[in-house]
Amino acid sequence: MRIYSVKNYDEMSRKAANIVSAQIILKPDCVLGLATGSTPEGLYRQLIEWYQKGDLDFAQVRSVNLDEYKGLSPENEQSYHYYMNKNLFNGINIKPENTHLPDGMAKDEEKECLRYDRVVKMMGGVDLQILGLGENGHIGFNEPCENFAKGTHCIRLTDSTITANARFFENADMVPKYAFSVGIRTIMMAKKILLVVSGKAKAHALYQTLFGPINPRVPSSILQLHPDVTIVADKDALSHIDRKDDKSGDIYFY
Ligand code: GLP
Repeated sequence: MRIYSVKNYDEMSRKAANIVSAQIILKPDCVLGLATGSTPEGLYRQLIEWYQKGDLDFAQVRSVNLDEYKGLSPENEQSYHYYMNKNLFNGINIKPENTHLPDGMAKDEEKECLRYDRVVKMMGGVDLQILGLGENGHIGFNEPCENFAKGTHCIRLTDSTITANARFFENADMVPKYAFSVGIRTIMMAKKILLVVSGKAKAHALYQTLFGPINPRVPSSILQLHPDVTIVADKDALSHIDRKDDKSGDIYFY
């Protein structure tokens, strides 16, 4: 595991965008696993800027998103379809048919989950999975629970996630209660993982991710078992981390 400690959100975004760019340059038809939330917005802005300068080409890139709210259509401004178009896809030359998200409007949940797992499988899995971190340690919408969910599933969001995400909606009551999310298996099978973390509100979750017991109550703790994880985190997010906590010497700090 590598941890890049950066000053602030802007530096985090630039460093993370560098890592994503390197992936695209090395493998122009790579599969990117994409995340939503406020954390990767700056990273996406930077990718758009480099694309517009002619430094990056998304013509062959394929993408698969982590999650989508149940009951929100792509036209709904709070949906993750809308978010991706607004924050990334509309600014680059990725082909719409090469982008994938769960269908929040699917009537048959089980069928949709199976379909989405097949989509990921047919793409040959994810080359680089971008992840944000929930304050409760969720990744995608894999919420704290008793067992790690393997495949794509439809999950009831925890109250803390609903509260955290209410800022994107008129009020907390408008936040959908359910969401589709890829499972831990899809995330863990990605060849590389890039976790971006910013702000004091994430400091405890980041500490648990790195040094807590591997436990589905902190879903991100499973990342300790992945062989190729890069974390780009700002000073605030790293404020609970002491290099001495890394007893195993498995973490490289930069
Ligand atoms: C959301 C998303 C996650 C995201 C996380 C953190 O609920 N489902 O993929 O990583 O919560 O969001 P933010 O970056 O806005 O703090």
